[in-house]
Amino acid sequence: MNRAELIQQWLPHGPQPIASETHFAPSNIALCKYWGKRDSELNLPVNASLSVSLDTLGTRTAVEPIDADADEVWLNGERQAPQSRFAQRVSGFIDLFRVHHPQTRLRVRTENNIPTAAGLASSASGFAALARALNQAFALELSATDLSILARLGSGSACRSLFDGFVEWQMGVRDDGLDSHGVPIEARWPGLSIGLVKVDEREKSVDSRAGMRRTKETAHLYQSWPLQASTDLIRLREAISARDFGLLGSVAEQNALSMHATMIASWPPLLYWQPDSVAAMQKVWQLRNDGLALYFTMDAGPNLKLLFEQDSRDAVLEHFPTLEIVQPFGV
Ligand code: DP6
Repeated sequence: MNRAELIQQWLPHGPQPIASETHFAPSNIALCKYWGKRDSELNLPVNASLSVSLDTLGTRTAVEPIDADADEVWLNGERQAPQSRFAQRVSGFIDLFRVHHPQTRLRVRTENNIPTAAGLASSASGFAALARALNQAFALELSATDLSILARLGSGSACRSLFDGFVEWQMGVRDDGLDSHGVPIEARWPGLSIGLVKVDEREKSVDSRAGMRRTKETAHLYQSWPLQASTDLIRLREAISARDFGLLGSVAEQNALSMHATMIASWPPLLYWQPDSVAAMQKVWQLRNDGLALYFTMDAGPNLKLLFEQDSRDAVLEHFPTLEIVQPFGV
């Protein structure tokens, strides 16, 4: 099934669009990664994943109808060229919502308080915030679950950014993907801390979409990934319900490194790490050997996200003084 058919059947008819308020959605960091699609048209994943949303770090977006031939897309106060990849992705996503109002053109104003495309998942919060703004503009009154399904069509990981705290993206089994969306996990974990180690904020040369396609098509090692991910997901659920930090950290770190192993085994090889990424990993391992409960995860980029609890904060800051720390559940 293609997305146009799905949307035609599924999305309700709304009145003429109006200007929306500004809507926020948080970025999210996966502890069990989404890596590989079983359907790239509908962004249906090979495996289920589990993330934690980043509280106030994310994207704010508002939309308004304009009298023009093309959408107007503003990112962090700068007008984006209509042919740019960013503007094209935004317009492609709006196409889903304007299916019953095809003449509508919108001005989109979007602001990130995280670096765009630096491995800090701004596309996830971006499509989630845009889905919320479009829901209001087109008076669709969709549920968070329905918005999660729509956000997934923009970017897979965006389906998790419709919810706060821990979120599982259930992969679903249906061909139309209507059972593939984020589901919040009720548990909270005050003091859980995520530290952003910014090795390089430049846009990466191979984005997640191209990276996962290459891995799935060329890495024999990828065959082991779905089993790794499903086992990790079960152990993460256990870690969360038992509030077992050692289990949470070790599973998340091993999951990230397993994903990177499949990337490295692709052809041409995909190595997102830089020397400073490896130096930071080795520092984490050394500190852990010395008794500090510190782990990391990484996405398709060179930056690390450190995982620790509040009582290790001072020790972690001593070794990573420039760390930006997020506590998704407060102290
Ligand atoms: C490594 O959601 O950006 O961050 O669905 O093609 O837009 P598309 O990919 P995207 O991939 C995210 C990959 C990841 C892992 C994760 O967030 O689960």
